[in-house]
Order: sequence, then structure tokens, then C-alpha cells
Amino acid sequence: MEYEICLEPSGIHFMADERQNIVEAAKQHGIPIKHGCASGSCGDCKGTILSGASEQGPFMPLLLLSTERAAGMAILCKLYPRSDLRLRAEVVPKDTWTAEITRLTPLAWNVLELRLRPERPYPYRTGQYARVAVPGRPDQWRSYSMATPPDSTGELVFHIRELPGGVFSQWLFHAAQTGDALTLGAAQGQFTLCPDNDRDMLCIAAGTGLAPIEAIIQESIDLGRTRPIHLFYGARKQADLYHLEELARWSQQYPHITITSTLSDMHDTSWAGAHRLLPTVAANGHWKDHEVYLCGSPGMIEAAIDLLLSHEVQHDHIHFDAFAPNG
Ligand SMILES: Cc1cc2nc3c(=O)[nH]c(=O)nc-3n(C[C@H](O)[C@H](O)[C@H](O)COP(=O)(O)OP(=O)(O)OC[C@H]3O[C@@H](n4cnc5c(N)ncnc54)[C@H](O)[C@@H]3O)c2cc1C
Ligand code: FES
Repeated sequence: MEYEICLEPSGIHFMADERQNIVEAAKQHGIPIKHGCASGSCGDCKGTILSGASEQGPFMPLLLLSTERAAGMAILCKLYPRSDLRLRAEVVPKDTWTAEITRLTPLAWNVLELRLRPERPYPYRTGQYARVAVPGRPDQWRSYSMATPPDSTGELVFHIRELPGGVFSQWLFHAAQTGDALTLGAAQGQFTLCPDNDRDMLCIAAGTGLAPIEAIIQESIDLGRTRPIHLFYGARKQADLYHLEELARWSQQYPHITITSTLSDMHDTSWAGAHRLLPTVAANGHWKDHEVYLCGSPGMIEAAIDLLLSHEVQHDHIHFDAFAPNG
């Protein structure tokens, strides 16, 4: 069964099948409703149901606070129409940037630093991510977090992990050259440093989840803040860890920054550090009054949220960015 969907304030109308979520149906009609993962993990497709019946599918905990649910907000990439619907939803401008690859630097055996120079200034807030079109497949986009705050060079820095069979990452690792051009959509995301907050910070990063966390910590340093920051950084094997020297320099230079690296590989006897990211976090502090920043796979984020809630961290002091496969 098909229903008519009307978006406010744009006034755009389109038809959606009852088996299609709103983001997917809009995309099919060439309507770019703002979204990121398209799989219920990032919260960038939040909208409000103004009228009509719908069914909300499951999504990552804490994406909608109880006050947002009470106000009729919904996760549109998991919302299915059950009648004609009127929704408030953000439609993103079809603005794109061409950006040249200026450098590709290995950070670990499976992580590259990608540097891009956009043709014109690319506005973003520290911690946000860019949508990048897959070369040769203009209808496919991937999301990558900027690893540094915006600066006067205008260059964008990313940490990108190679995924076996991954369309974009395989191209980047095996075909991309400096001078190649990529197409970027506008920056997105709410994973940014909370202004006017002087709570101690707990940061938890897994794999390339380190990218936006590094940017957020760098911004806190640039702002001259000295509230304690404890970063827990986890990877599977020693060879997967990157930026260890840079992180060590931070903790030497700034006494308020503490870094703990962990490995999930329990069999690595040459590793003198901690094992297993979240149990190490749990064993190393009282986090109740902290402001928390989490970034990594959706599974890690869900487990971390459970842990933090059990430590009585307040919902609105938990910020996260889940590196979900792009829908
Ligand atoms: C908001 C956001 C920010 C992100 N930022 C970064 C970043 O800074 N650095 C980074 O390396 N990645 C980041 N990602 C993940 C990135 O967008 C891609 O999903 C990832 O690079 C895979 O793209 P691909 O084309 O290589 O693989 P695809 O062709 O999309 O997928 C290949 C296979 O791998 C699986 N897969 C896809 N993505 C993942 C994943 N993340 N984990 C495990 N399996 C996966 C797919 O299901 C598929 O089976 C981010 C994702 C989101 C939503
Ligand atoms: S796009 Fe809907 S939750 Fe990410």
C-alpha cells in the first residue's frame, strides 16, 4: 500500500510504500532528506511527525530522548508510513564541493590518513563528518569524520580504515592517487564539543573512531581549557593502533590529558598495556559526573551506553557517533 508523504517546511510531496522507510522512499524520488548512516545509528535523520500514522522501527538507544519522543520526534530512516503523513524534516541543499587529494599517508597497516583540499572553503564544526561520493558511483556516498578542527589551511584530514570488499576504502587504498578529485556533500553531524560545559571529559574511541575524538580534544586544547580529559583508545591488535606517539606527546605536554590504550587481542603477550576497552573504562574511574564522547562501531557504542548508564552518567551528557555501514 502507498501513502502520500508531505514534508514541512519545504512543502515537498512524494509517495512511499508501507515497506519503505521515509529516507529510502524520499531518496527514490531524488529528495535528499538529511541523513547519515540510514541504518538507525547516527540520529542525523531526526524529524517530527506532524500528523498521520506510522510505525517506528528499532534504532540505537539514546538517539531520541524521552522529551523528543513526547514531542513527536522520530528517526526517519526507521519510520514506516501507515497512513498519509505530514512530517517536519530537513532537506539538505544539493551543494557539493570538489576536493583534490593532496596526501595519502599510512597510519597503520589498515588505516590511511587522507588529506583533501576543497576547491572553496568547506564549512564544518569540529567533530562533524563529510559525505563523500564513491568515485565512479555518484549515487553511492560514504561518511567520514574530519580528524582535525577547521584551520586556516582549509585542508580536510580523515583517518580511513580499509574494509575487505569495501567499495570506497578499496578504491582509496589501491587506486587513489594524489591529485585525484572527490566530491563532498555538506558537513553533517551533532557530535561536537559541548559549549559552556566544564565537566571532566571521558572519551572512548575504537579504531578510526579516534578521528573525531582527536579533533574534539584538539579543539578543547585550542580553547585553552584545562578540565581533565581521559581518553581510552582501543583496537584489536597492536598493529591496528595508530597515532600512539602523537597521543603520548599530548599527555606529556598537557598534564590534564590522560591516555589509556587497550587491545582486545588477549593473546598478545608482548603488550604491556590494558586489554579490552570497556572493561578497562569500567575499572578505571567513577564516570557519573563526566561529559562523555564515544566513537566507534555501533556495537561498541551500544555497549558503552549500557555501561555509562549503569555508572549513572546522565543521558544528555553522553555524545556519540556510530561508524555504521552506510545504508
Ligand atoms: C557518521 C559516520 C562517520 C564515519 N566516519 C568514518 C571515519 O572517520 N573513518 C572510517 O574509516 N570510517 C568511517 N565511517 C564508516 C564509513 O562511512 C564506511 O562505512 C566505511 O569506510 C566502509 O565503506 P566502504 O565503501 O569501504 O565499504 P562498503 O562497500 O560500504 O561495505 C563493504 C562491507 O563492509 C561492511 N561494512 C561497511 N562499513 C562497515 C563498518 N564501518 N564496520 C564494519 N563493517 C562495515 C558492509 O556491510 C559490507 O559488507 C563512518 C560512518 C558514519 C556513519
Ligand atoms: S540516518 Fe537515520 S539514524 Fe543515521
